[in-house]
Amino acid sequence: MPDTDRLRQRLRAAEQEHLLRFVDELDPALRDALFAQLEAIDIEAIPSLVQRYVRAAPESAAPADIEPAPCHPRDPADPRMPWDAGACRRAGEALIRAGKIAAFTVAGGQGSRLGYDGPKGCYPGGAVTEKPLFQCLADWIIAARERYDAAIPWCVMTSPLNHKATLEFFEAHDYCGLPREDVIFFSQGVLPSFDMHTGKVLLAQKHEAATNPDGHGGSLLALHASGALRELATRGVEHISYTQIDNPLVRVIDPVFIGLHTYDAASSGEMSSKMVPKAHAGEKVGVFCAAGGRVMVVEYSDMPEELSRATNPDGALRFNAGSIAVHMIGRAFIERLNAGKGFALPYHRAEKKVACVDPESGRPVVPAAPNAVKLEAFVFDAIPLCERSVVLETSRIEEFAPIKNAEGADSPETSRRVQTQRAAAWLEACGVDVPRDADGEPDCTLEISPRTAMWAEDLRAEKTPRTIERGARTAL
Ligand code: UTP
Repeated sequence: MPDTDRLRQRLRAAEQEHLLRFVDELDPALRDALFAQLEAIDIEAIPSLVQRYVRAAPESAAPADIEPAPCHPRDPADPRMPWDAGACRRAGEALIRAGKIAAFTVAGGQGSRLGYDGPKGCYPGGAVTEKPLFQCLADWIIAARERYDAAIPWCVMTSPLNHKATLEFFEAHDYCGLPREDVIFFSQGVLPSFDMHTGKVLLAQKHEAATNPDGHGGSLLALHASGALRELATRGVEHISYTQIDNPLVRVIDPVFIGLHTYDAASSGEMSSKMVPKAHAGEKVGVFCAAGGRVMVVEYSDMPEELSRATNPDGALRFNAGSIAVHMIGRAFIERLNAGKGFALPYHRAEKKVACVDPESGRPVVPAAPNAVKLEAFVFDAIPLCERSVVLETSRIEEFAPIKNAEGADSPETSRRVQTQRAAAWLEACGVDVPRDADGEPDCTLEISPRTAMWAEDLRAEKTPRTIERGARTAL
């Protein structure tokens, strides 16, 4: 039997007693559902969240003294910053073989821009095979497990909104070919959504507070809170390879990057990142910067326009290092972020439209303009908390084909194009004749599974056709 009086007291102390306004009208099952939901919310934290983010509406802005972050160049012989890629590869491979690396994919997002009804990981990602995004990433893990003869656990973070559907997908798809015990699922947390004028938590329904997933940064909290981190420790895992679900070209386990993160003197082994040079000054990506001796990502919306456009004497953009949300993260670092009283990352506020019920009349409200503040943590906010953090340059065509929008930039169409461009380059390096149009674009659709080749050097001429026909759809 829930202790209603105690719950009411706690809500009153947090100025949120209205959440129980309709409790007497509810049938017992719905009343219990409301109590269970409210008990799971950190009610005592609400006043400070309201104070800090709803009433105060903090402006986020780049620090005044930002510089471009130092980046390890893609070509390790680049005289601007030569580095020992061979030694990094060997160090990374040794860690993978020793079972000290886990893959981690955040898949709790709502995919609202794509407009896909279901977990984004179930969306067709392969340019030719149209295999689901979950399978695209799983195939990389299968290839790495075979190559390094290692068990590589895969943590998949869901949200309460897609957890059940995600588990059903994996059940129905034989865990994408991975041993069931090596796929670890857990759900990220949620935060209450607030009325932007009053700071009251909105009621989605009479028996439900409005909540939203706590952002990809919530993954660093959920890894700990769910027990997944402890499970990884038991398995001997020391570093986690963080990827997002929406990039079918991502190198889920990359020995060179792992070695750079753990072995290079410039890294503290806490959190490292990959970047690609920005496509153009106005591209909507976060940019790696440095200030006060710390590396950080500055969101495109927080970057002063003149800095976004500033160029070096050679004409290249000065702030050129676009984040692709690929990180290596030390397990000990995540433990440290969770060791204090509250979670270490700040929240970002977004004003959104949230359908709700009127707290006085109980009538449904469908807002025409934003009425709510949603809070989210961003994973890259952990980077400035590192003692030293490295950034590795990579190539867009090799590793970055995100599916974010239904059309236009970062859409299924552009992802197919990048996947094809990469496959075409690899095939041509193997002596294969690939048809190209007048603009030099491949005149075909191509896809190479990581199980065939993880990178260009793996592709063997004897495994490839000699010629690709114009307009062909070829998967290898
Ligand atoms: P995005 O920021 O692209 O958001 O997430 P999204 O939810 O996929 O799509 P939109 O913005 O609603 O259109 C980048 C990555 O972070 C994960 C997503 O699943 C994706 O892999 N993510 C995002 C979470 O896991 N949880 C969140 O709360 C937000």
